[in-house]
Amino acid sequence: MPTLPHLFPSPETRGRVVVTDVALRDGLQNQPQHVGTAGKAALLRALAAAGVPSIEATSFVSPKAVPQMADATAMIAEALALAPLRASALAPNLKGLERAVAAGTKEVAVVLSCTETMNRKNINMSLGEATRVGCETLRAARAQGLATRGYLAVAFECPFEGPTPPERVLALGLALLDAGADEIVIADTIGAAGPAQVQQLLGRLLPQLPVDRLGLHLHDTRGMGVANAYAGLELGVRRFDASAGGLGGCPFAPGASGNVATEDLVLMLEQSGFATGISLPALASAVDLAGELLGRPLGGHSMPWLRRQIARAAAESRAGREEFPGR
Ligand code: COA
Ligand code: ZN
Repeated sequence: MPTLPHLFPSPETRGRVVVTDVALRDGLQNQPQHVGTAGKAALLRALAAAGVPSIEATSFVSPKAVPQMADATAMIAEALALAPLRASALAPNLKGLERAVAAGTKEVAVVLSCTETMNRKNINMSLGEATRVGCETLRAARAQGLATRGYLAVAFECPFEGPTPPERVLALGLALLDAGADEIVIADTIGAAGPAQVQQLLGRLLPQLPVDRLGLHLHDTRGMGVANAYAGLELGVRRFDASAGGLGGCPFAPGASGNVATEDLVLMLEQSGFATGISLPALASAVDLAGELLGRPLGGHSMPWLRRQIARAAAESRAGREEFPGR
């Protein structure tokens, strides 16, 4: 696999950023075609081989609600075989947590949407009930020694109710933190935010929600995913979700398109002097594999350019080997 060192400004780093790839969960949950467990497991291995440190591998939701996630137990078994990979799974309620624990999951994520209607559409609960169930699931997960993430979905805008009041996002974030969420993930589920909205919302959340416990989960509907991530970076956020190839979207949120592509995010981070531990050429191979599984070419905005760099580096490395055969 070629490396692309010439792309990045200096070996000096502005610190480490943790990227969680959510292609196997957010990416696949709304795809019309079924992807079998063997294909998903191959994608999981390809992402891990690319150095992705954290992967949301599946979700323990009702298979009636999301048939694509019916093989959650098998996917966790695949992920556990890749230890020390950090592999998490979404669990919407205690039943999901119970299934996750039985499968050996070490980290779970609960999803709390910030509006009444979105909770009803997504998990068939009112906002109050979803908050109660989310908090009880977090507490039970912590009591069993699991690591926890708490998603705040539609934190910027809801497809049913419009802009989300920042005060509500703060109150729900504090509730999740109090219930034991290690990480609060601010999710732009429909990709409605721009950098100014990211600055405004984070400005309201910080410092009451400590920045080292905050993550951003961005969708690229308006092509602003990477710009939004940069706005978060400037305010100190060092945890981001992304999806290989830009797959993604919530089946219950109309207008939600793909997540910010992992390759776009990693390129921006590395080019900005942050270390991710992720190999872009190996990640590009994982994106190709995801494309094969779904039967259509995938890739973020940077992918055509990235492919050319990878081809060039491979050609240079071949030429080098011909010139110095011992290398
Ligand atoms: N895993 C598997 N089955 C579950 C479950 C879980 N986490 N939670 C509930 N169920 C089962 C119940 O046992 C019951 O089964 P039965 O019909 O065989 O008796 C059935 O699902 C209905 O249970 P109920 O509590 O009435 O749930 P519901 O129909 O109101 O659905 C959720 C609630 C949360 C289970 C469902 O809406 C869901 O899974 N949503 C997932 C949404 C999602 O993944 N969105 C994208 C990610 S943000
Ligand atoms: Zn999402």
